[in-house]
Amino acid sequence: MRYPLWRSAVFACVASQPLYWLYLAWQFALGPDPGKVLVDSLGEGALVLLLLTLSMTPLQRLTGWAGWLAVRRQLGLWCFTYALLHLTGYLYFLLGGEFSRLGEELRERPYILVGGLGFVGLTVLAMTSSRWSMRRLGRRWKKVHGLVYLIVILALLHMLWVVRADAGRWAFYAGIAAALLLLRIPVVSAALASVRSGRNKVGIKLK
Ligand code: HEM
Repeated sequence: MRYPLWRSAVFACVASQPLYWLYLAWQFALGPDPGKVLVDSLGEGALVLLLLTLSMTPLQRLTGWAGWLAVRRQLGLWCFTYALLHLTGYLYFLLGGEFSRLGEELRERPYILVGGLGFVGLTVLAMTSSRWSMRRLGRRWKKVHGLVYLIVILALLHMLWVVRADAGRWAFYAGIAAALLLLRIPVVSAALASVRSGRNKVGIKLK
């Protein structure tokens, strides 16, 4: 395994965050509604991890360091784990385990359905993230994992619905997502690679 220290450091950072939030809740340091704070923090954490996962390839292109790619899958799986904890927190703290209220909840707060769709997408990606799935799916694997961009859009829409009054924070994440989507355009990603190699391939092509 390459970059064992780097991988372990990323693991420790990301795994300790929910434990830290739980510790704060235990210490009554999360305010009058700790359940809601936990659900919100885990949701925001899942979005941050999703954007971090998508940043690994552009960072590798820009810096040439393969360590970014060594933690990409781990970050993606952590994103799924945070989203799963976010969903569990919602069912336990906000819904109080009353599953019969779920239909009424979906009618009153349709953003839950949007988040649910995003979660289904994340589940598909997590289930097909192994090398075995990669081999089995062959060329279709890339197509399936292209779903990640749809998931980002669903997650942002879901968040916007919740934090309408705090649009600044949302705009920050949306800006990063827009930049990452832009980097998917072949000419932009080629320009990024040329920044590293010191040759402006785009310029040469334009001539
Ligand atoms: C079945 C799946 C999901 C359910 C039921 C769900 C439910 C919720 C609920 C109820 C809230 C608002 C909590 C409140 O403040 O009252 C929320 C907020 C949020 N969720 Fe989800 N969600 C789901 C999936 C996701 C996914 C997949 C992501 C991201 C990848 C996500 C990211 C967020 C974010 C960023 C917020 C706003 C947090 C904040 O206020 O800072 N959610 N979600």
